[in-house]
Amino acid sequence: MSAIRVHSISSLHAEFSVPGDKSMSHRAAILGGLSNGTCTIRNFLPSEDCVNTLNAMKSLGANHEVLDELPGYGPVNLRIHGRSMQLSAPAAPIDCGNSGTGMRLLAGLLAGQPFDSELFGDASLSSRPMGRITIPLGRMGAKIDTLGEKDGCAPLHIHPATLSPIHYEMPVASAQVKSAVLLAGLFCQGRTTVIQPAATRDHTERMMASFRMQLDIRGNEISIEGGQIPQACDFTVPGDISSAAFWLVAAAAMPGSHLIIRKVGLNPTRNAIVGVLQRMGASITEIPHDSHGEPIGDIEVRGAQLTGTSVLEHEVPNLIDEIPVLAVAAALANGTTSIRNAKELRVKETDRITTVVNNLRAMGGTVEEFDDGMEITGGAPLHAATIDSHGDHRIAMAFAIAGLFASGETEIHNTDCINTSYPGFAHQLASVLRGSSSPADYTLPTVSRQPA
Ligand code: S3P
Repeated sequence: MSAIRVHSISSLHAEFSVPGDKSMSHRAAILGGLSNGTCTIRNFLPSEDCVNTLNAMKSLGANHEVLDELPGYGPVNLRIHGRSMQLSAPAAPIDCGNSGTGMRLLAGLLAGQPFDSELFGDASLSSRPMGRITIPLGRMGAKIDTLGEKDGCAPLHIHPATLSPIHYEMPVASAQVKSAVLLAGLFCQGRTTVIQPAATRDHTERMMASFRMQLDIRGNEISIEGGQIPQACDFTVPGDISSAAFWLVAAAAMPGSHLIIRKVGLNPTRNAIVGVLQRMGASITEIPHDSHGEPIGDIEVRGAQLTGTSVLEHEVPNLIDEIPVLAVAAALANGTTSIRNAKELRVKETDRITTVVNNLRAMGGTVEEFDDGMEITGGAPLHAATIDSHGDHRIAMAFAIAGLFASGETEIHNTDCINTSYPGFAHQLASVLRGSSSPADYTLPTVSRQPA
């Protein structure tokens, strides 16, 4: 099990890009595999989570060719050969690794197939709630057994079934649930509608539109007609704003710093981290590029002393994955930051309320834990500590960032998990720790697999 050591730095001066967006890469693998032709996907995230989804689609008959790869990780540019909605039975249970998105979206896809399938994952994924998808899918006629030791948890055995459309009011604001139901809706006759209690990331809707599928979107109510075939297209995945967020916090909270992150996704259902940091006094500018489909642009940050804020309820689904690193920003800010209405954090890769609270306290932070979040009183200096990620990639990275501000040497244990979402994080962190401002030191080298 690997570890990362981090020491404090006085400022951060760099310009680089981060790997492709995780949410979009999962969806590109799935919709590309369902499409009616060949799709070239560029800047795919070669992380374990997304490679598992790509391999899942392969086991269902949708092959791909790697054009360029990040050595040791996976494809960055690839061609997917779609199956025109005709999947074949997998020869073996499908491994979703650590990925809730992979498992929940694939369950939606598999619920209406004429064959049996099984989805399994690692210990963390096997303890996360699957009832949120098996309930609506079951109402559509899916036959899914949850075989886990914990009630309602994976492995999932999905039996052959013919689905009927539903009109489903989701009890939790979850893009994964919305996407699972919409994907299942594709495989039944008629109109399936999901109503979300609050806006969640809309990558499924946008990517379906890129594949020329018709959706009817009225505010938080999204409907799809079954039987549509995604029209093959090429797609370039923007950089992942959730990965960029680690560096945004590092630079924003460190006076004297100047950072530019290039070609990041600026989808308005994902960029609340920028607005919240601005409210904390951060100097951050979004520089949008011309784009259609998914908004993309550069983000420029200049360091400043931050002050505390309250995260608003409607912002929570928009920055749910950034809360661990936002909590680090809060510990560095003068005053109190309140993060409430975020109970969903308890069912992520770890219980991210407890892991963040304990780790911040270990570094000298003042934090009060609530059932649905935390209140952080910042401004006191952080000190080094030995931090356990508990196998959670975002906890590992958030506390590596905290280490850049702490006196002494912070050691993060159990950091292999970072590869589930951010291959190359350790490489870019090493360049930050060396004080490099050369873009070349931050580039993740890809290798061509294309025939000469
Ligand atoms: C994701 C949705 C979010 C997020 C996860 C990725 C997605 O989860 O936390 O990392 O790609 O749909 P929920 O939809 O369960 O909130």
